[in-house]
Amino acid sequence: MNMDGAEIKKLSQLTKGETAIVFCLVRSMNIKTSTNNKSYGDYTLCDASGEMNAKLWDVSDEDACPKVGDVIKVKGLVTEWQNNLQLRMDKFRPVSDEDEVDLSQMIPSAPYPPEEMLATIKEYLAKIKDDSIRKLTVEVLREYAEYLPLHPAALHNHHAIRSGLLYHTTTMLKAADALHTVYPDLDYDLVYAGVIMHDICKTVEINAENAGIATEYSRDGLLLGHIVQGIIAIEKAGEKVGCDQEKIAMIQHMLLSHHYEPEFGSPRRPMFPEAELVHYLDMIDTRMYDMDKALGDVEEGKFSPSIWTLHKRRLYKKTF
Ligand SMILES: [Fe+2]
Ligand SMILES: [Fe+2]
Repeated sequence: MNMDGAEIKKLSQLTKGETAIVFCLVRSMNIKTSTNNKSYGDYTLCDASGEMNAKLWDVSDEDACPKVGDVIKVKGLVTEWQNNLQLRMDKFRPVSDEDEVDLSQMIPSAPYPPEEMLATIKEYLAKIKDDSIRKLTVEVLREYAEYLPLHPAALHNHHAIRSGLLYHTTTMLKAADALHTVYPDLDYDLVYAGVIMHDICKTVEINAENAGIATEYSRDGLLLGHIVQGIIAIEKAGEKVGCDQEKIAMIQHMLLSHHYEPEFGSPRRPMFPEAELVHYLDMIDTRMYDMDKALGDVEEGKFSPSIWTLHKRRLYKKTF
């Protein structure tokens, strides 16, 4: 397929109204029906610079449509829908060897290599002085070890990148460490254990078969969610390593309450300071990530579009 006549760009460089060519990975694909009863393909495309919604209006030959996990070359017109850029896929084909595309350039990834972040987790495990809390945490980590290096921390929102879960967890550990001197009387064995395990079951809540790209929620992820899955994991690990029931219940409570609000999945709000801190560390890291991402492509002195995950706020980028 000839795609001449347009410039090759990264997704983050696209601007409204232009026709461009991008090399990207298909992250999600759903066949939907429009108001005039016509089928179309609703896509999420990504490359290392970010992701974008895309539409394929002709899906008459469904077998020929790009599928999740395909790396494709696309030519399309950039349009706008509800303040978000969108790509109308006019031409596409799978990438070939001649395109010399590096797969790692297709997947947004954490800024640190997984080995380095796993070493950071080990460092904090070693700081946990209480034997049974440390053993319980090691046991839970062992259970999910195969998924840890590449798993994202979300399907769409914060840290939905390769190795995003490790990035989120290690940043929270560093923030907890920094607060140690400010709030020295808290039990940091509980805080570190709570941080390390708070989202660990995202590894089984979300399927990510394609080199760290989240594709969909798993069955148990939808039916139970990572909080309940995490509580079951702690129960099992606690029994296995012989942790006493008070410690098991307190660690389970830190998981149970980390989303804070019942409507966000927490049936209890935090009932001791370490659990409160785990919640706020989670919030800080999520917010900082979302804000940094939202401002990434904004020009100095300008505002971002309204960001749904940030209460529809528009963010300002300073000029100095
Ligand atoms: Fe969570
Ligand atoms: Fe989290």
